[in-house]
Amino acid sequence: MNFQKICVLGLGYIGLPTASTFATHGLEVIGVDVNTKVVETLKNGGLHIHEPGLRILVQAALGSGNLRISDQPESADAFIIAVPTPFLADKRADMSFVRAAAGAIAPYLSPGNLVVLESTSPPRTTVDIVAPILERSRLVAGEDFLLAYSPERVLPGQILRELIENARVIGGINETSALAGRDLYSTFVRGEIVLTDATTAEMVKLMENTYRDVNIAIANEFSRLADRFGVDVWEANRLANRHPRVEILNPGPGVGGHCIGVDPWFLVEAAPDITQLIQSARQVNDQQPEFVLELIRRTLPDGDSAGSLRGKRIAALGLSYKANVDDLRESPAIEVCKHLADAGALVSAYEPYKADLNIPGFKCETSLEDALINAELIVLLVPHTTLVTLDPHKLADITPARTLIDVVNGWTDRSWQEAGFRVTRLGAGTMSGQ
Ligand SMILES: NC(=O)c1ccc[n+]([C@@H]2O[C@H](COP(=O)([O-])OP(=O)(O)OC[C@H]3O[C@@H](n4cnc5c(N)ncnc54)[C@H](O)[C@@H]3O)[C@@H](O)[C@H]2O)c1
Repeated sequence: MNFQKICVLGLGYIGLPTASTFATHGLEVIGVDVNTKVVETLKNGGLHIHEPGLRILVQAALGSGNLRISDQPESADAFIIAVPTPFLADKRADMSFVRAAAGAIAPYLSPGNLVVLESTSPPRTTVDIVAPILERSRLVAGEDFLLAYSPERVLPGQILRELIENARVIGGINETSALAGRDLYSTFVRGEIVLTDATTAEMVKLMENTYRDVNIAIANEFSRLADRFGVDVWEANRLANRHPRVEILNPGPGVGGHCIGVDPWFLVEAAPDITQLIQSARQVNDQQPEFVLELIRRTLPDGDSAGSLRGKRIAALGLSYKANVDDLRESPAIEVCKHLADAGALVSAYEPYKADLNIPGFKCETSLEDALINAELIVLLVPHTTLVTLDPHKLADITPARTLIDVVNGWTDRSWQEAGFRVTRLGAGTMSGQ
């Protein structure tokens, strides 16, 4: 199938790079977002998200004249839906954005069009939710128009490269739809394109992230065991991973982002009676910020046996859900800060990728210096390169704190001790009570 013009709904971390990449590969692209701020920012040459290389890509796409930004769809050969699929307070998938996007496409749908859902979705979303909404156009899915699901597997921080190089799964509601999807994405995808049915493709994405979540949960549980038994989990992991068939992940403050901590719930919601392991893993990872709080309580510089955090001045470094990105969604680092504030600590947080922050419950500083200047205790929550490469001696000059809690194994160098800091690491045997 030949595609000249496509319409991408949702211009966030996934939709904007996708729309721009199609545009720089010669297709006419309408990038649509319902958020007027996003539309205005992009139209004025700005960028509302941080992703390495994205500014140049978007500028190239807009400059070529192939990418136009709009607040509503228009007729096209293909439509791509890349809108959010968060969960509700009760952990059920919020499919309202997907429903709205499909509803917005329906009036513009023409015979022969292809629609691709990229948003991570519960099993059967494409056939049970998206197809019926699109069929309000009076066109029949699989006959008059083609419909496919294609999960996005890019890694934030490396989205532009992975968009092109990763293998891509395309699941059609029938074979013609899958083949049309392959024709569309082969515009720029250099990785293998693998065809399947729509529900399998939905499951593939959910299985990938659930697998990651379960593996992170076991790593976090190992960190608790290591603390209990006076073992350094980082060393134990390193040794265990010398086994040819073992690959234990790193523990940390929990699981965040709007994928790994969210997607397993889509499977739990779809089949609560047969997902015990998945539910347990979610529970372990969701509790990890409380475990970190306990670690901090025990590490208080005055050796306060009651471990009272009330009035303690704590600098929390890093707030995003993982290293070297600005994405704060579901961040366990923020959970740790909230727990600290709830326990009465005076938290001064600093996130180098988003200096201008306002999070209810604790203070966000605009500079590292402001976060550190009055601190008694420093907690490293995210292994941003800029934080783990800090010079300990320079840090010692700008803070009175001499106690560090490293939750991410970022400050391992001996120079920290030489600069006068006492470093406590998560999973390094500190909670044995010995
Ligand atoms: N961010 C990632 O790394 C990643 C990786 C894999 C999969 N995903 C999945 O991709 C999907 C999109 O994620 P994201 O990170 O790009 O989200 P995002 O929040 O960064 O962007 C989504 C955009 O969609 C817009 N939007 C909402 N409703 C809309 C509608 N009806 N029409 C047009 N625009 C609409 C929002 O205003 C927002 O700008 C989600 O399902 C997510 O789970 C994300």
